[in-house]
Amino acid sequence: MATIFSGMQPTGSGLHLGNYLGALRQWVQLVESGQHRAIFAVVDAHALTADYDPKTFPQKVYDTALTYLAAGLDPSKCTLFVQSDVKEHTELAWYLSCVAPMGELSRMTQFKEKSEQYKQSVNAGLFTYPILMAADILLYKGTLVPVGADQIQHLEFARDTARHFNKRYGKELFPEPAPHPLRLRIKGIDGAEKMSKSRGNTIELLDPPNAVWKKLRGAFTDPQRATREIGGRPEVCNLFTMHQAVTPEAKVAEIDRDCRSAAIGCGDCKKMLHESLEVELVPLRAKAEALRAQPARVDEILRDGGATCRRIAGDTMREVRSAMGLAAR
Ligand code: TRP
Repeated sequence: MATIFSGMQPTGSGLHLGNYLGALRQWVQLVESGQHRAIFAVVDAHALTADYDPKTFPQKVYDTALTYLAAGLDPSKCTLFVQSDVKEHTELAWYLSCVAPMGELSRMTQFKEKSEQYKQSVNAGLFTYPILMAADILLYKGTLVPVGADQIQHLEFARDTARHFNKRYGKELFPEPAPHPLRLRIKGIDGAEKMSKSRGNTIELLDPPNAVWKKLRGAFTDPQRATREIGGRPEVCNLFTMHQAVTPEAKVAEIDRDCRSAAIGCGDCKKMLHESLEVELVPLRAKAEALRAQPARVDEILRDGGATCRRIAGDTMREVRSAMGLAAR
């Protein structure tokens, strides 16, 4: 049985539509297939590599976990926990850093981008981030990691690190985790780039319908479609990528045709998208409401998940220490 491991950083208040359509919804499908053991983390320790406010941080972690649950991750079928509740993550990260190849670490494109973006405050954690990510996965002997395209390189690094460890210590202690590539890449409402908090182009998952509509109404579409009379190009339009994720296939084909022929305008397209989105989001908001009404419930789920993970992580670390010649005393 494959062990699935994945995680998201607790950024923003809850998560956005890109997180949901691009990842969370697909995690839920994997869990519901019943074919895997699955563990999902709120990776709070990773978030420390960026600017953050310690005062509001606990609420962000909580909101992220709540969103996992609202999106349909069922805690009776998978394990949900907060990364920093299991100290073994940071412990294994150090041990792995002593086998992780520096050359490969230096090639990580995300580090290059981020260190460009936050020039004044580049910390060592931002550089060693992929080692902690490898530790997250290997601690549970994860074999299948559902991640977006931007994380594939980090996953390759985790595979290489597992291989280096096994080679150095003569044991097949860690299975090499394989990516489970996520299919959809949702662009932001600026139409330019992937939807992302740091780019300020998001639609929040748990926002009320009118707030969702406001964002949609202002969303960029095909820049060549300067007037209603000019046909659009769905393949470059961010609205169309969202339609593909939430609108029934037959209707998507219609929209594709009618956009090209200018039979519909961007306003019509946005209205239809809002309707499709609402079908998807209404149950999510309801679940989130229900959970907010009993805040202790989310903490209880995370505490249980943490206990389960500490047990597994403890077992792995005993093997790791023994393989590395770190005696138990
Ligand atoms: N780096 C991932 C991201 O930003 C989050 C993450 C941390 C992760 N640890 C992980 C994803 C382990 C998969 C497995 O999206």
